[in-house]
Amino acid sequence: MTERIGIIGAMEEEVTTLIAALEDRAEQTIGRVVYHTGKLGGKDVVVAKCGVGKVNAALTAAEMIRTFFATVLINTGVAGALEGSLSPEDAVIATDLVQHDYDTSPLGDEPGFVSGPETVRFPTDPAVTQAAVDAARALGMRVLQGTVASGDQFISSQAQKERIKRLFGAYACEMEGAAIAHACYLFGVKCAVIRTISDRADGEAQIDFPTFATHAAALNAEIVKRVVASL
Ligand code: ADE
Repeated sequence: MTERIGIIGAMEEEVTTLIAALEDRAEQTIGRVVYHTGKLGGKDVVVAKCGVGKVNAALTAAEMIRTFFATVLINTGVAGALEGSLSPEDAVIATDLVQHDYDTSPLGDEPGFVSGPETVRFPTDPAVTQAAVDAARALGMRVLQGTVASGDQFISSQAQKERIKRLFGAYACEMEGAAIAHACYLFGVKCAVIRTISDRADGEAQIDFPTFATHAAALNAEIVKRVVASL
């Protein structure tokens, strides 16, 4: 059994440079996801494109943990900015994650409260998170650490954005991180969510996202490479 670092991105541009950098590369397809194993910076890793959204992310996370013996999962990708000072190509490294679209509040629960694990917030690993902050700073990026909110929605209006900020105090929004952190929490595996801003999650987001996503994703992959090498 080879223990590995698992790296998950939702889209091709979020994982392509990492897969290209693998040494001793092999691949295995399970369901519709291709798991690429090999060495990155001398470490055993498994890299996969999970597809967009929380279900895709959670299934891939579970597979990496159960089938590929991942002991750390790193989620790489882009995010929409919620915190006002963030601009495209800044980094947000998650301290904890919430599911902004998980809502049983009519039954008396707090918004985002997930039954089963009985929590709103899923934590990341402090040491891996710090390694990501150091790596992003070493690349000259502006970095914020804080809550990241995930949901099965592309956020593109001021009203959606304000709701997530108000309820969860989140700095950035995306569509997979909390599902991966949730899976890690259930299996007792370390987790880091590393994101680079591609848009401001407002009325311009659908224009900014295609403009900035490819470069932001490539920058983010550079952070991940450095984190892996440091572990
Ligand atoms: N990922 C990148 N930008 C996003 C946005 N505005 N909403 C959800 N996920 C995103």
